[in-house]
Amino acid sequence: MIDFKAISKQYNTPLYLYDFNHIASQYTTLKEAFRARKSLICYAVKANSNLSVIKHLGDLGAGCDCVSIGEVKRALLAGVANYKIIFSGVGKLDEEIYEALQKDILMINLESEAELERVEIQAQALNLQARISIRVNPNIDPMTHPYISTGLHENKFGVDLDTAKRMYIKAKNSAFLDPVGIHFHIGSQLTELAPIKESSEVVADLVRSLKALDINIKFFDIGGGLGIDYDDETLIEPYQYAQAIFSTLTGLDVTIMCEPGRFLVGNSGYFVTKVLYEKINGDKRFVIVDGAMNDLIRPSLYNAFHRVELLDRKEHISKADIVGPVCESGDFFAKDVDLPASYHDDLIVIKSAGAYCFTMSSNYNTRGKVAEVALEDGKVRLIRKRETFEDMIKNEKDYL
Ligand code: LLP
Repeated sequence: MIDFKAISKQYNTPLYLYDFNHIASQYTTLKEAFRARKSLICYAVKANSNLSVIKHLGDLGAGCDCVSIGEVKRALLAGVANYKIIFSGVGKLDEEIYEALQKDILMINLESEAELERVEIQAQALNLQARISIRVNPNIDPMTHPYISTGLHENKFGVDLDTAKRMYIKAKNSAFLDPVGIHFHIGSQLTELAPIKESSEVVADLVRSLKALDINIKFFDIGGGLGIDYDDETLIEPYQYAQAIFSTLTGLDVTIMCEPGRFLVGNSGYFVTKVLYEKINGDKRFVIVDGAMNDLIRPSLYNAFHRVELLDRKEHISKADIVGPVCESGDFFAKDVDLPASYHDDLIVIKSAGAYCFTMSSNYNTRGKVAEVALEDGKVRLIRKRETFEDMIKNEKDYL
């Protein structure tokens, strides 16, 4: 049982709390599932880029999947070895490519033919050989929310099989490119194994045909996307996941890489917010809390479901919307949930808040980013202090 009351007293609310032991157990479960093969789990930093979270996973042996040079720098700062860092994303800047090459990270994931040329130019400028991987878009429906589905040709991600093959041949013939990896990622919050297996088959076939062209792929990156339990979803078992991937790789000597974000950190996180007021508008009951959409936007943005719990109250249950102080009707955490009567300063805990919650937060309404704390072996420590008003205006105040 986590003592949210004591923690909130110490650090105030709103607040994010991450259970580091849970993160470790998720990492170990996944790593174990892949035990029969060489594997590298590259944590998708975008899910939660707090330096202490990255360090925690790095200490366990994880590498990092980064989508900006900022994330690459976070990973390095947190102590993750450069040879375990990969850099993905559809729109990398020349400067980012240059810096990533200088930092000698494991590989850069290419998402277009045009990008291959940019990487070649930067590698030539540095007079080195850039290790690259190509993101293949297998055109398979991942069966998840359309906003987080990425593996169809209608999505902007990756290249089709023919383009990928052409790019590999170009890379092989370039003095400045070294094609070492292949990559696919078909979406996030995946709960169906079949589309992943099917994608892996398609991509493994491409690896075989590349072999015939004397292009030897060493890293087989299956992306991220493993779903978690927000609302009693049927989940993909890590063991079944690994077995499905293995079954597509017969005859191939590759290191399996994966890029989980949500799976590692999602259910380790709790957003703790305080009740300010209750009010009734017509028939509608609202519970107004001190956290808002700028702190945790998933319900507003995706209509995502997060379990909520009002601590220490059981009486007078009725339907309520839990809403924040931001001036938008979309500022809500839950709608029409059964909630006991609440009182000023009661605590509400929003569950599954470890992934894509703090990282997607903003200063909208000039609300400072909230504090983050880690819970590990029963001990709590601050891992990001609450942003102050001064922090928020520091880049503007000199221009008045
Ligand atoms: N690899 C690539 C190339 C990705 O684009 C992503 C996520 C991941 C790995 C990690 O996926 P995960 O294992 O966390 O599912 N903001 C949305 C999720 C966006 C996911 C973007 N890409 C949300 O709140 O649900």
